[in-house]
Amino acid sequence: MGIRELKKRLRFLAEGEDSLAGYAADGVRVVNKNTDFLNEPKFAAAWNFAEAGNKEAWAKRKRVPDVRWRAHTCCFAAARALKLEGDFVEFGVNAGLLSMTVCEYLNFGALDRKFWLFDTFRGIPEGEMTAKEAARAKQRNAGIYFDVYEIAKRNFSKFENAILVKGLLPDTLEGVPIEKIAYLSIDLNVARYEKECIDRVWDKIVPGAAIVLDDYAFIGCEEQNAMWNEFAAVHGQSILTLPTGQGLMIKQ
Ligand SMILES: C[S@@+](CC[C@H](N)C(=O)[O-])C[C@H]1O[C@@H](n2cnc3c(N)ncnc32)[C@H](O)[C@@H]1O
Repeated sequence: MGIRELKKRLRFLAEGEDSLAGYAADGVRVVNKNTDFLNEPKFAAAWNFAEAGNKEAWAKRKRVPDVRWRAHTCCFAAARALKLEGDFVEFGVNAGLLSMTVCEYLNFGALDRKFWLFDTFRGIPEGEMTAKEAARAKQRNAGIYFDVYEIAKRNFSKFENAILVKGLLPDTLEGVPIEKIAYLSIDLNVARYEKECIDRVWDKIVPGAAIVLDDYAFIGCEEQNAMWNEFAAVHGQSILTLPTGQGLMIKQ
């Protein structure tokens, strides 16, 4: 090892860091960890596809957020679903950053499954919710969302078996022919809507299916965290808190 490399290593050690590249985005910073998954060709291509499709949808924020680690969690959960029976579902899609990554990663169009994508596609309905959630919904509606239905349609157009279901949840679950669910991503930002949805579909989720709770461990999402903890206790489930802010529940 040359003197320069040695100095570099010593500096990293002094800072408590290692020379591995790591990841710093989305409120997560890791050092001294192997993050090769970010550059794994299939994942990187899937992320690039989703990021490109989401540019207009994130115009108010000027850039698509780097949520690659969250997308990695979703790809992991979705890949497991291929060993189970059932469809894929997302509650809260917007223009599809997470689910586009999943679809491209799994080459979803070639699968004999359906991906049901539920959203108003025009932001969070400001209905009955706690004052804190209402304030957050208002802020997000003003700061991020607008009518992205046409963008979402375009984004999923190459996956004929990905179906956009537009309108207010949980009402839009009525009449949608979902019999079994093998993968579920929940990202509605409002505890009440998430509770109403999970209550409606819980019995359809097959044992072993992964349920990704996008907002579970974020500061500011305490209502969702409390609601999911209570739900897990009532149903004898456990939730893994991830540093990404997601919660991961594997139905037992
Ligand atoms: C954080 S965004 C979803 C982001 C998405 N998972 C992604 O990968 O980009 C939350 C979404 O939930 C939707 N939403 C919230 N409450 C809803 C409800 N009751 N019915 C339908 N859509 C709802 C909003 O329209 C918004 O697009």
